[in-house]
Amino acid sequence: MILDLIRKRRSVFPAQYNDKPIAKADIEKVLEAANWAPNHKKTEPWRFKVMTGETKEKLGLFLSLKYMENVADPKQMKAKKLIENPKMAGAIIAICMQRDPKESLPEWEEIAATSMAVQNMWLCCTEMGIGSYWSSPPLVKFMDEFFEMEPGEKCLGFFYMGHFDGELPEGTREPIEDKVVWAD
Ligand SMILES: Cc1cc2nc3c(=O)[nH]c(=O)nc-3n(C[C@H](O)[C@H](O)[C@H](O)COP(=O)(O)O)c2cc1C
Repeated sequence: MILDLIRKRRSVFPAQYNDKPIAKADIEKVLEAANWAPNHKKTEPWRFKVMTGETKEKLGLFLSLKYMENVADPKQMKAKKLIENPKMAGAIIAICMQRDPKESLPEWEEIAATSMAVQNMWLCCTEMGIGSYWSSPPLVKFMDEFFEMEPGEKCLGFFYMGHFDGELPEGTREPIEDKVVWAD
């Protein structure tokens, strides 16, 4: 039942990942799932940059450098974490959004469609037993210096993936009744 999978989906963070590599075929499956997200006017605005191997380490060094250069009172601990987290991941997929050049849609619709693609990825990972989460550090605004981006393309964060050991905790949510008005 899809509801069980939806409820089972959790954010699984780099500290929880083990060393088992992510198979390329699994990354391809996740990307294929992303590609079936709904989108308005067929703009298919999601764009992804898949980072594995050395590129993950380079990403960590880049983010740490940008943090040190741009934050008023940088903390050594945070800078170290920015280097360590990407190393722990099996793969990191930069989540990008390509605004339709004709701007036929408001930007939020393109971000919404990209977010739906991410949910597809996250659920696909859940089913495959791969840990994942969406990381959205403010440092993403510098990502056009890390890889080539098209005009109108924006980085919205990183989709971290990693195998993990053990069980995940159940999630918690406030009741849906508190968020719904029925108009009969
Ligand atoms: C758009 C978006 C951005 C997020 N950014 C971060 C982030 O930067 N750091 C983080 O720890 N979690 C981030 N998360 C994950 C949330 O913390 C997580 O989904 C929430 O705590 C609920 O936990 P669950 O995913 O296990 O249900 C993000 C989630 C979304 C949807």
